[in-house]
Amino acid sequence: MLKRWIIILFAALGISAYHQLPQQWTADTPLQEIQYALGEERPEHFMLPDSSLIQRGEELVKYGKTIGPDGKRTKYISKYYVCTTCHNLEQEDPDLRVSDPETRLDYAIQHNMAFLQGTTFKGIVNRESWYNDDYVRKYGDEKIEQAHEDLRASIQLCAIECSQGRSMEDWEIEAVLAYYWSLQYTLEDLGLSTEDIQRLNREAQSSANHESLKAWLRSYYITKSPAHFYDAPPNKKLGYEGLTGRPERGKALYELSCLHCHQADGVSHYVLDNSQLSFRHLEKMIDKDSHFSLYQIIAYGTYAIPGHRPYMPHYPEERMSKQQVEDLRSYIEQMAHPNN
Ligand code: HEC
Ligand code: HEC
Repeated sequence: MLKRWIIILFAALGISAYHQLPQQWTADTPLQEIQYALGEERPEHFMLPDSSLIQRGEELVKYGKTIGPDGKRTKYISKYYVCTTCHNLEQEDPDLRVSDPETRLDYAIQHNMAFLQGTTFKGIVNRESWYNDDYVRKYGDEKIEQAHEDLRASIQLCAIECSQGRSMEDWEIEAVLAYYWSLQYTLEDLGLSTEDIQRLNREAQSSANHESLKAWLRSYYITKSPAHFYDAPPNKKLGYEGLTGRPERGKALYELSCLHCHQADGVSHYVLDNSQLSFRHLEKMIDKDSHFSLYQIIAYGTYAIPGHRPYMPHYPEERMSKQQVEDLRSYIEQMAHPNN
């Protein structure tokens, strides 16, 4: 008897659920679920990861190794770096619609985050191309061109080229991708207000044509991380002319960027710290034709050479602006001669 009532109750609930319009989206609904519901195709790199794969991916990204599906410990992807040497995992731009190193630095200061050459993995699955602009234009070989359009290929390329490591197994790439999906944008990440979300729910249900809604959602974030390279100034003594360095900004750059890799026990043998010795050496080299010059190291980085694989990636202008190079210079000069 009771059983029959329960069945009837569930049937009634089922019917009312059926009559309800599509589910209500909330602040924590993943953006990709909404785009799919609005009729967009799943991206090529789409997957529904399980938690053990996500965990393996997270370990690969943070520690460079994990326990494989066969129960065995994997080899390190790279002897020199982990992915987080060069990439953050959290949101790093306060406004996801622009890639601006000035506002990113403010955000990094506020959240005590690193300020790095590589773009954050947060929201990377929501991007639609990778290794953009000058990465394709200037290095544009076949591998970069493939990576430009394919997130899996980007992961592999960066393991081998950026990390100077081994190539990753297919399951490892899937694991990193699974971890990336755990970092996908939700409506909240896009900064939508409660009213925006209500409007989205309302309009998705009231109309069958979702083109403008899709475009509206995309207007809240950039679908690629732009990258434009620049040169050292022709005259290093004069620096980037017309720009005045702001030492307090330079201090933040030094600590959140340079020291991230150059502090003792970091990835580089070239150790920097807050001693006058460090600042004096950097200062002395500023106007030299040498990769120890700020202007040269920031705009061009260093290359991996046989026998010495660790190298420093350069900064595109979206990752450190010319103004910021001048900021760093002014801080280094100030610290090298504190009594001036
Ligand atoms: C030594 C620095 C360094 C290390 C280590 C590194 N990367 Fe990168 N990676 C970069 C740089 C620089 C780019 C250039 C494009 C960008 O991120 O803006 C990049 C780009 C990428 C991109 C494309 C991002 C985009 O939106 O264009 C992916 C994916 C990626 N790396 C994955 C990885 C993974 C996975 C690891 C660890 C196995 C790793 N990287 C380790 C420096 C590094
Ligand atoms: C993602 C890690 C990383 C960041 C961030 C970084 N560096 Fe480097 N840097 C390296 C590595 C690795 C090398 C290669 C030197 C080595 O093998 O020890 C290097 C090399 C250098 C060199 C040349 C040293 C040599 O021995 O050839 C200078 C100078 C330098 N970096 C300055 C800086 C400054 C200034 C900043 C901040 C604007 C900075 N680096 C940010 C990793 C980094």
